[in-house]
Amino acid sequence: MERILIMNGPNLNLLGKRETEIYGVHNFKDYLEQLRERYPKVRIDYFQSNMEGALIDKLHEAGFGKCDGIILNAGAYTHTSIAIHDAIKAINAPVVEVHISNVFNREEYRHKSMISAACKGIVTGFGLDSYRVALEGLLG
Ligand code: DQA
Repeated sequence: MERILIMNGPNLNLLGKRETEIYGVHNFKDYLEQLRERYPKVRIDYFQSNMEGALIDKLHEAGFGKCDGIILNAGAYTHTSIAIHDAIKAINAPVVEVHISNVFNREEYRHKSMISAACKGIVTGFGLDSYRVALEGLLG
């Protein structure tokens, strides 16, 4: 069984309530349930934190043999965190960078990602379905 870890960063615990015109009205828990139903042969673990260090600790914990791939929406840390870039580089598991919105048709400060170069691939702009597209990419 393939093991995939989905990680959400800051403010993504508020999906369904937060800026719904951008991020939609669905909460992540419901989406995750649907995803697990759709991929019964994949073990999909989930972690969310608003703290940069906690995200880094989780990458370290998961990234050496505990999972086959990581889907990471680092939220705004995407645009600032060299530390998360370094953590992705440090681990063995492939990481796919994910965004719900299309960061390239939003504010200019969202166009720059500090983590893309460390990732296997990027999915941006498909709403919550970005996570499924990333999962397909990891499963190959
Ligand atoms: C986001 C885009 C980021 O710019 C923003 O800070 C987020 C969410 C997205 O999923 O579209 O928190 O990563």
